[in-house]
Amino acid sequence: MRRILTLLLLFNVVRSSEAITGGVVNLRPKQIINSVGIGDRFGGIGTSSDESDHFKLLAADGDSLLVGARNAVYNLSLSTLSVNHKIDWKPPAEHIEECIMKGKSKTDCQNYIRVLARKSAGVSLVCGTHAFSPKCREYTVTEFGIRNTRQFDGQGISPYDPKHNSSALYVPGTNQLFVATVTDFVGNDALIYRKTIDETPSSKSAANIRTQSYDARVLNAPNFVATFAYKEHVYFWFREIASEAIDNNEEPQLSDLRTCRTSL
Ligand SMILES: *[C@@H]1O[C@H](CO)[C@@H](O)[C@H](O)[C@H]1NC(C)=O
Ligand SMILES: *[C@@H]1O[C@H](CO)[C@@H](O)[C@H](O)[C@H]1NC(C)=O
Repeated sequence: MRRILTLLLLFNVVRSSEAITGGVVNLRPKQIINSVGIGDRFGGIGTSSDESDHFKLLAADGDSLLVGARNAVYNLSLSTLSVNHKIDWKPPAEHIEECIMKGKSKTDCQNYIRVLARKSAGVSLVCGTHAFSPKCREYTVTEFGIRNTRQFDGQGISPYDPKHNSSALYVPGTNQLFVATVTDFVGNDALIYRKTIDETPSSKSAANIRTQSYDARVLNAPNFVATFAYKEHVYFWFREIASEAIDNNEEPQLSDLRTCRTSL
């Protein structure tokens, strides 16, 4: 609940900063939060206070916010904070059992939605941790409602652990996903990955590229913060211990890394 409101406030700051008048950026936030009231309009589906929904703001789409949570994606109205739509996606019982057998808690062995991208009008890509076995789906808006039209492996797209900080950006023009996450169960193999979302899963795209595995000079236990496109590049923001700081026991440094976006 509090987390959602914080995100809203940030969003409003960003929105109002776009109002550039005569070269001066107006950074004053709009006071929308107070008029909505700090009420209990949205709290997700958490069943007890010690079970986190691991909410993650995935996209802001006009007047709605898309929020990933446990076994669900919420489409929330920005003006009323009420739920416009909800997609439910729980892992099958046998997946949950397998995950528990591997030593994870029942709470963590759920499907925490970490990635959402609008592929085209009416088609969304949704990926989640899926009981420590990441999966992606395409959801299509049909005349009978929102339908799951395709499912595929989400390794390297969504992390396994809901606590892991990852980020992703989809570029519709090239059908490419730029992801910053981990690609293994224990969460040691961090990667920045450019993946083409194929229509036919069998045609393995040769254009997929990733950073070198287990090379601390490339990525050193990063905490990914955000991924965004600016001009012809995609930028990945993350926090990690700067390698020169390891010997001196220093605090993590905020780092950024610039990577190329392919010619469109
Ligand atoms: C979220 O809901 C609104 C209102 O129904 C809709 O216009 C919008 O397309 C939805 N966004 C996504 C990504 O489904
Ligand atoms: C993810 O980021 C949050 C906020 O910066 C931090 O508190 C948390 O420890 C991070 N998670 C992991 C697994 O490092």
